[in-house]
Amino acid sequence: MRIDIISVLPEMFAGFINESILARAQKNGIAEIHVHNLRDYSLDKWRRVDDYPYGGSAGMVMQCEPIDRCLSALTAERDYDEIIYTSPDGEQFDQHIANELSLKGNIIILCGHYKGIDQRVRDHLITREISIGDYVLTGGELAAAVMADAIVRLIPGSISDEQSALSDCFQDDMLAAPIYTRPADYKGWKVPDILLSGHEAKIRQWELDQAMERTRRLRPDLLQRNKG
Ligand code: ADE
Repeated sequence: MRIDIISVLPEMFAGFINESILARAQKNGIAEIHVHNLRDYSLDKWRRVDDYPYGGSAGMVMQCEPIDRCLSALTAERDYDEIIYTSPDGEQFDQHIANELSLKGNIIILCGHYKGIDQRVRDHLITREISIGDYVLTGGELAAAVMADAIVRLIPGSISDEQSALSDCFQDDMLAAPIYTRPADYKGWKVPDILLSGHEAKIRQWELDQAMERTRRLRPDLLQRNKG
């Protein structure tokens, strides 16, 4: 899978892309992440990519032209399955969307900044708008990083134990069961006996019951979604 990220702050991605699970996935040839500086596509001698909004409201707006030029350069090279714009008013990112996007070949994530982008970009060039939550970030870079991480870790071979991505929280709209490791008794805090029993079927049932109990208690809204 290939993810192209377009940003006015490309340096923000360096540590993240070169250290995290994304670094391993890239090294293993499972994913490619390319970050593009939007300013490289500005025709302005100051490399500006924003301007004042029509109508006189406050803040700056990202202009059509640099974005269009950058997207045209990328789409001339290959086909993209989605061109995503990160925005607090987009559809809410969740595990379902992460799963769906992890199956794509090539995607672009355009990071919003300032007050936002010219509406014409949204109307004509973007295929999808995604928010990572009901709060406003300074820019879309953190949103793009969150999405890239959640997507790439789902690609088989990306994390060492493939099974562990499948038993994540939110897969099947359930929270995960509690987990433990050695020692079995730490300061008198004991690991549940069932996990030491070696009885595979009973352990799986216990995990399911625990996951269901946690979900009911902490995130009952997920179970409602399951029914729908
Ligand atoms: N840009 C600013 N806030 C955002 C959010 N919550 N999600 C995605 N992009 C954003």
